[in-house]
Amino acid sequence: MNLRKVFGARFLVVAAVSAGLLVGMAGLGAAAPIKIRFSHVVAPTTPKGQAADMFARLANERLKGKVEVQVFPNSQLYTDKKVLDALSTGSVEMAAPSTAKFTSWVPQLQLFDLPFMFKNREVLYQTMDGKVGKKMFKLLGKKNMLGLAMWDNGFKQIGNNIREIRTPADISGIKFRIMSSKVLEAQFKQVGGNPQVMPFSEVYSALEQGVIDGQENTWSNMYSKKFYEVQKYITETNHGYLGYLVVTNAQFWAHLPPDVRTELENIMKEVTVWIRENAYKINQDMKQKIIDSGKTRVTTLTEAEKEAFRKAFEPVQNQFRSVIGAEYIDAVRALNAKN
Ligand code: LMR
Repeated sequence: MNLRKVFGARFLVVAAVSAGLLVGMAGLGAAAPIKIRFSHVVAPTTPKGQAADMFARLANERLKGKVEVQVFPNSQLYTDKKVLDALSTGSVEMAAPSTAKFTSWVPQLQLFDLPFMFKNREVLYQTMDGKVGKKMFKLLGKKNMLGLAMWDNGFKQIGNNIREIRTPADISGIKFRIMSSKVLEAQFKQVGGNPQVMPFSEVYSALEQGVIDGQENTWSNMYSKKFYEVQKYITETNHGYLGYLVVTNAQFWAHLPPDVRTELENIMKEVTVWIRENAYKINQDMKQKIIDSGKTRVTTLTEAEKEAFRKAFEPVQNQFRSVIGAEYIDAVRALNAKN
């Protein structure tokens, strides 16, 4: 037996196996980071835009090499509720549509669209963080969506090109763009307006071309999308809330490595605290910028005028008791009474 040959062959085998292991390990080390595409429809300067960017920045810093979050603002990938289909087919991993856009999936979420439902922001947060919020998140779960957080924008104002709106009767006959919520349709019909569902990305040109006469939105959405440049009048009604559900695909989330998932959930909590502390201020700053532009007339209502809007819109709450669930509406009313 030629020992030299045997040892030589062994050496070759050991060397080959080691090299193979090394290549394998190198391959493992270079495993591509998990991609998370976060799609939304608003501008990066709005509360949601800033929060999504903050989430991406913190995740990309703290989970460097493991996760890569990329934000697609301004309806670049998907408009409005289409993103929810994309989420279910795995074309995007995260989204934060407004509650109105979940109407066909979870109609109960229209609770947040009801006019004059929430006395103040405290009541809103108590609703989101309490039993009602938890039950709503469970309802999402039935659709294979996982709710990660609720994010704030703020209260909506009414803009239009026909006349200054000071009373509910002034709304009569005006064509308004609305988000896809039956509650919002009922709200405008209640006072003789003509609501029309339209994606957010089409509102500016629809106003400019006279396809619609008006729309309702927060100061930050109206400023960042320049709606105020194509609307003669905006009335500060604060009649309804605009907030978001940050959602992901439940299966995608369940399959994340546990350490990654925990860190992402911690970051989400941090960003949610940030948006609650900053959304109101961002909206107030943008309101001032709209006023300063001099391009539209901003009307502030007296207490008596506000009361007239409350009286005119409030019946919508009872119209939707069975669709939304009386237990949810009553829970918010109880919080209103306490706060
Ligand atoms: C709208 O469609 O008006 C809003 O939902 C846009 C947004 O996401 O804030």
